[in-house]
Amino acid sequence: MLAFSIIPLMSKYIIHGGKSLAGDVVINGAKNAALGIVAASIMSDEMVTIENLPDVWDINVLLDAIKEMGAIVDRVDRHTVKIVGSMCSSVVDNENMRKMRGSYYLLGALLGKYKRAQVPLPGGCNIGSRPVEQHIKGFKQLGARVEITYGGILSAEADALKGSHIFFDIVSVGATINVMLAASLSPGLTILENVAKEPHIVDVANFLNSMGANIKGAGTDVIKIRGVEKLHGSTYSIIPDQIEAGTFMVAAAATKGDVLIKNIIPKHMEAISAKLSEIGAEVIENDDSIRVVAKGRLSSAQIKTFAYPGFPTDMQPQMTTLLALSQGTSTVTENIFDNRFKYVDELARMGADIRVEGNIAIITGVEKLTGASICSPDLRAGAALVIAGMVANGYTVVEQVEYIERGYEEFEVKLKSLGATIEKVDDDVDEVLYARKMALSEVS
Ligand code: EPZ
Repeated sequence: MLAFSIIPLMSKYIIHGGKSLAGDVVINGAKNAALGIVAASIMSDEMVTIENLPDVWDINVLLDAIKEMGAIVDRVDRHTVKIVGSMCSSVVDNENMRKMRGSYYLLGALLGKYKRAQVPLPGGCNIGSRPVEQHIKGFKQLGARVEITYGGILSAEADALKGSHIFFDIVSVGATINVMLAASLSPGLTILENVAKEPHIVDVANFLNSMGANIKGAGTDVIKIRGVEKLHGSTYSIIPDQIEAGTFMVAAAATKGDVLIKNIIPKHMEAISAKLSEIGAEVIENDDSIRVVAKGRLSSAQIKTFAYPGFPTDMQPQMTTLLALSQGTSTVTENIFDNRFKYVDELARMGADIRVEGNIAIITGVEKLTGASICSPDLRAGAALVIAGMVANGYTVVEQVEYIERGYEEFEVKLKSLGATIEKVDDDVDEVLYARKMALSEVS
C-alpha cells in the first residue's frame, strides 16, 4: 500500500532568486475537480477508477476520510485510485475534514445516495468569509431538512428528495457542485440557475454522466438534471489543473524565462493568456500546451477577478506579484473574496510598492525585490510568494509551505527542474547556514 502525505510536516522553502525558468513542465490533474469527483465516486456501489488524480494533501485527506467511512480505496499509484463506495456510512467524522474546503461535497453525495448525511462544516484557505448558505438553500429546495448541530456538524436528511428549480443568489463553485451531486439522484427535473461555469464544474458533471447521471448544460448559465435511480461504476480521467498551469505561466513571465507548460487545455487558460500577452509576454498556444516567453520588463495592467470565464480569483496573488515588478501602475480588484490580499504585507517586506484600499490593490511597479523571510498565508498566496522569491535579489525563506502542498504536487521539484534554486527544508533548519551551503554548491 503506497503511503501518501496526509500529515502536513512544517517545512519551508529556501530560494536563491535571479534565475530565469526554462524548459518543460507537466501539469497535474485539477485539485478542485478531483475533490468533487472523489466525493461523487462513493455515490455508486460499483467500482470507480479515477485517473490523473493530483497527489496533493487535500485529495489524500479526502481519500482517507472516505476510507474511514467504509469505502474500499485502492491507491494503484500516485495518480490513480480505485474506489468502491458500497459500504460507505453517511457520517463523516474525520478531523481533517474541518481543515479543508472540498470536504463538504460529501454532504451532497451522501444526501443524494442515502437521503441523510452528517459532515463537519468545512475549513479551507483563510481568504475571507466562507459561508455555505447557498448549499443549504439548494438542499432544502430538493426536500432536505438541514441544520448545523453541536460541534459544527452540517446535518441533512430527507424522507424523499425531489427535483426543484433553484436560483442561486450568488455564483458559487461549491454550491453548484454540491447541489448537482444531490440532484443527480433526486427523482424528477432539477434546474439550477445562476451557477458557476468553471472547468471543474464541467468535469464533475461529465464524471457523473459517465456514471449514468443525466446532467445537461454544465459550463453554461443553466444546468438541467434529471434524477436517476442509481449510478454505476466508471473509469474517468480528471482534467488538467487550470490554476497550477496559470501559476507556472506567471512564474515563467516573472522570471523572464521560456517555459513550455504541458498537458493543459489552452481554452481554460484564456483569461490568463490574454493578460500575459497584454503586458508584453509572448504566449504561444499549442493543442495541449502553452509556451510563455518574456525578455524585457513587462507593462502594467488592470485586473478584475470574476467567476469563469473571467480572470480567476485563484490567480490573483500570482498576477499581483508579477505586476509588482512591471513598468507603471496597475490595479487588481478582488471581486470574489473579502480578504484575499493578506500576502501583500509580505511582498511589501521584499520592497513591493502596493497599497490596498478595500478590495483594490494599487501597485506601483518597482525595479527589483529583495529577499526576505516571509510566511505563506494560504495556498495561492504561498505560490505567489515563491514566485516573488525567485525574482528577488538574494535569498528568500517562505515558511508554512504545507499550505502550498495542499494544492501543488511537488511544487519545488518542478521549479527546480526549470532551473530555480529552491530547496525544501524542515522548519527547524538554520536557514542562514543552509543558504550558505546552497551558495557554495552553486559556485562549485
Ligand atoms: C472554490 O471555493 C475553490 N475551492 C476556491 O479555490 C476558489 O477560489 C473558489 O471556488 C472560487 O473560484 C474548491 O473548489 C475546493 P465559492 P468555494 O463558493 O466553492 C461566497 C483554491 O485555491 N459564497 O465559489 O468555497 C463566498 O464567500 C481555492 O484552490 C457565499 O456567500 O468558492 C465567496 O465570496 C481557494 N455563500 C464567493 O461566494 C455560499 O453559500 C465564491 O465562493 C457559498 C459561497
